[in-house]
Amino acid sequence: MTLIAIVSAKGSPGASTAALAFTLTWPSPVLLAECDPAGGDLLAGYLARYELPANRGVLPLASAALRGTAEAELAGNLIDLDAPRQQRMALPGLTEPAQSATLDLAWTSLGEFFARMAAQMVIADCGRLSAAHPPWALLAKADLVLLALRPHSLRTVSPAMSAVTAMRRQLPAGFVENSLGLLLIGGGIGGREVSRHLGVPVVASLPWDTATAGALCGDGRGRRRAPLMRRSAAAYESITALIAARRMDSALSRRDTEPLTPVLP
Ligand SMILES: Nc1ncnc2c1ncn2[C@@H]1O[C@H](COP(=O)(O)OP(=O)(O)OP(=O)(O)O)[C@@H](O)[C@H]1O
Ligand SMILES: [Mg+2]
Repeated sequence: MTLIAIVSAKGSPGASTAALAFTLTWPSPVLLAECDPAGGDLLAGYLARYELPANRGVLPLASAALRGTAEAELAGNLIDLDAPRQQRMALPGLTEPAQSATLDLAWTSLGEFFARMAAQMVIADCGRLSAAHPPWALLAKADLVLLALRPHSLRTVSPAMSAVTAMRRQLPAGFVENSLGLLLIGGGIGGREVSRHLGVPVVASLPWDTATAGALCGDGRGRRRAPLMRRSAAAYESITALIAARRMDSALSRRDTEPLTPVLP
């Protein structure tokens, strides 16, 4: 399994929209997990016109993960975004941000559960790092953390520096160097400059596309061929190629540090 977490810094909207656009356009089976401690957006946004049960989602699944029964309870907590194909599933987020403190206990178990899920890509929308109770233990299990960033101006880029510093402090040594990338949303300061300033590579870019983003938030209808959807689909290649390259690097460095076994006659 591959776990991709999307986070954002203060002043850079677009993390949840990007997570949903990836989920709706990627070519392999995918699960969108709303893990934002500030609450989920899907039920009140993209899925607002459907009558859906409100009792499923990340909170009951997290309790199940703590009890060791997440596998059995997963299907009952998901919504099929592409019914009846079950290729694009969603795990709705918290309905009440106050519940996020309870989840602090469960992020490790949930991250481990996602990591065990075979043949599925999980995209976890983890919300703003400046909010209370970021899901650090889940982020630490990710193959790639994408920091969503609007490179619009210095005012939008500067808060990303404290987000990167917080990640260096909270996540295991070497995590930021190996598993963090930027997801630029909209234009402004050039990607190379932003990347140099933050010391983090740009992994993908999405356009500022108000009509499509509005449709993904439940306002109006979007088009499959709209710029935001096309660029989301294209981001799949760069994101999965980077994850594969990093896995290869870490396998090689593990092999290099393994002790040589003596060959006996
Ligand atoms: N690529 C985009 N182009 C145009 N508008 C966008 C884009 N992405 C997001 N928006 C708009 O910005 C607003 C916030 O988007 P979104 O909910 O994705 O942000 P967020 O980072 O998840 O915010 P929060 O931290 O509150 O969860 C929405 O109105 C959305 O339509
Ligand atoms: Mg959001």
